[in-house]
Amino acid sequence: MKGAIFYSSKYGSTEQYANWIAEATGLPVFDAIDGNGDPSRYDFLILGSPIIYFRLIIRKWLKKHWTEIAQKPVLFYSVSGASAGKKLDGWISKSLSQDIVSKMHIVNLKGRQRPGELNPFDAIMLKVAGFFNPDREAGKQESKGFDYMDKNSIGPIIQWVRQITNKVEVA
Ligand SMILES: Cc1cc2nc3c(=O)[nH]c(=O)nc-3n(C[C@H](O)[C@H](O)[C@H](O)COP(=O)(O)O)c2cc1C
Repeated sequence: MKGAIFYSSKYGSTEQYANWIAEATGLPVFDAIDGNGDPSRYDFLILGSPIIYFRLIIRKWLKKHWTEIAQKPVLFYSVSGASAGKKLDGWISKSLSQDIVSKMHIVNLKGRQRPGELNPFDAIMLKVAGFFNPDREAGKQESKGFDYMDKNSIGPIIQWVRQITNKVEVA
């Protein structure tokens, strides 16, 4: 069973998770948006994307390649400021079709936002959003940033890869 990791990342945290997963599993890792790597060449896939402004940034790539990968086992990890829950599930379903969501094994990871590295547009948008967010905890996070990066949180992804690669093929 040959597998690969394809990710998209705006500020590097999703890439960091992809590299940790690659380190732990030995799987090759590709930046989806660069166009390197061909997902149709692999038997199973790990896909990763952050939520940026309520949407997955990998959504166009994923829809474009879906017919090539729909029959393969796919684990999808989201990276976000929000914790796992209804709000996050809603953003993921809105970014992709219900058909895609229902066929993937989904893991939600928490990311990082460092105000100092944001581009000017994102810096202003997040300051304004943080100021007006009625959820004050989320609002503080938006304007001041956060760091929830945790190497141990990839545990369920590594387990999934083990399960897939240990499967005994019955002819
Ligand atoms: C411009 C911007 C918009 C964001 N929008 C959301 C959002 O709508 N919901 C959320 O939970 N997190 C949001 N986040 C937090 C990101 O998902 C988090 O910072 C993630 O780790 C970014 O991944 P990356 O470093 O791979 O780009 C946003 C972050 C940025 C910088």
